[in-house]
Amino acid sequence: MVTISFASDAERNRLLEGDPGTRVAGTSGGESYTVVKANGGGYVAVNRMCPHLGRIEFSGERGSSNGEWIKCSLHTQTWSLKTGEGVDQYDRALPIEGSIKVLQVLECDGEFSISTD
Ligand code: FES
Repeated sequence: MVTISFASDAERNRLLEGDPGTRVAGTSGGESYTVVKANGGGYVAVNRMCPHLGRIEFSGERGSSNGEWIKCSLHTQTWSLKTGEGVDQYDRALPIEGSIKVLQVLECDGEFSISTD
């Protein structure tokens, strides 16, 4: 397991106390992630940046999530937080291929880590 670091305790607490879909940027093992509070409990981590063009942060204002999916508002691609597969895209004029990697996150006493199993 590799510990996830956040910019501040306030960001960590926002993730702990937030509703499903709460997104916070974190780093672990030299990689940048967006950690998401999953619907139904638990947390997952995905890449910090949307894989399409690589300029939009999932954890920022142009990202959104309900805890089951995560969405980039630029071209409105949505990915499943269970499978990583693309599940919907409103802007069908710009088809986006591919999936995102979804990593399981363990939380214990307010400490977050990514499972390497
Ligand atoms: S930049 Fe995110 S869907 Fe295009």
